[in-house]
Amino acid sequence: MRDLTGRRALFVGGSSGMGFAAARLFHGLGATVILAGRSAARLERARQTLGNSPAVTSLALDMTDLDQVDRALLQLPAGGIDHLVISAASVTHGPFATQPVTELRMMFDAKFWGAYGLARAALPSLRDGGSITLFSGVLSRRPGINCAALGAACAAIEALTRGLALELGPRLRVNCIAPGMVRTELHDRAPPERREAMFQSTGNSLPVKRIGQPEEIAEAVLLAATCGYMTGHVLDVDGGHMVRQYAT
Ligand SMILES: NC(=O)c1ccc[n+]([C@@H]2O[C@H](COP(=O)([O-])OP(=O)(O)OC[C@H]3O[C@@H](n4cnc5c(N)ncnc54)[C@H](OP(=O)(O)O)[C@@H]3O)[C@@H](O)[C@H]2O)c1
Repeated sequence: MRDLTGRRALFVGGSSGMGFAAARLFHGLGATVILAGRSAARLERARQTLGNSPAVTSLALDMTDLDQVDRALLQLPAGGIDHLVISAASVTHGPFATQPVTELRMMFDAKFWGAYGLARAALPSLRDGGSITLFSGVLSRRPGINCAALGAACAAIEALTRGLALELGPRLRVNCIAPGMVRTELHDRAPPERREAMFQSTGNSLPVKRIGQPEEIAEAVLLAATCGYMTGHVLDVDGGHMVRQYAT
């Protein structure tokens, strides 16, 4: 494992799920971490879970409000961040024929435009040799019924990753994590019985026969953020979702 002493990383979406797991891993390896999200209470809870350490601070922001994002990131010292990790998103799905477009625009505002605006606002804060890690999802290339727009948002993030890697290199590297199904708070809205049944049936369809844990995705974030020869890459961390067997 790498020693991240002296590095500073900003995790937007760091109060929950995979963002929190990645922040915990980076913190454990010696990095100073900044957790960002909308809810001050969730940020505080995450900070406490990391032991209330002085190496963990928080920044409350809503990534759908790009003016607020600009103002929030101005609070960071110029050149003071090595790694930006953006896992935050609000996702929605529903039938193509009936799902209100306003809902889908809100999803794009968070998942795509939020990440776009954050990456841009963070540019002055990112040190030379630093990295940006974005999050898409397997739906970008392996669609699911009722998920056409979410898949499109994920595909847009992957295209943004490749474009930014080209445009921001060699100063910065830009990569993307495409998770498969992972047990996080994202799924808390579903009724527990339905959620567990979905986890079970998705897990059974995968070569690894289970869904993922946030800590497994955190390891991929660490690789993307710190491997100096990796940029413009979309890293599938999905238990083999892309090579699932056809129905027998
Ligand atoms: N979990 C899965 O099965 C799965 C599968 C494929 C892809 N993904 C993708 O992986 C990423 C991480 O998912 P996760 O499961 O770790 O999510 P999660 O547990 O729901 O965490 C989401 C985080 O983002 C923050 N957030 C949400 N909306 C925000 C906004 N508008 N502005 C700022 N912060 C915001 C949340 O805090 P607040 O609510 O306090 O703002 C929270 O910290 C997402 O992009 C998701 O689409 C997830």
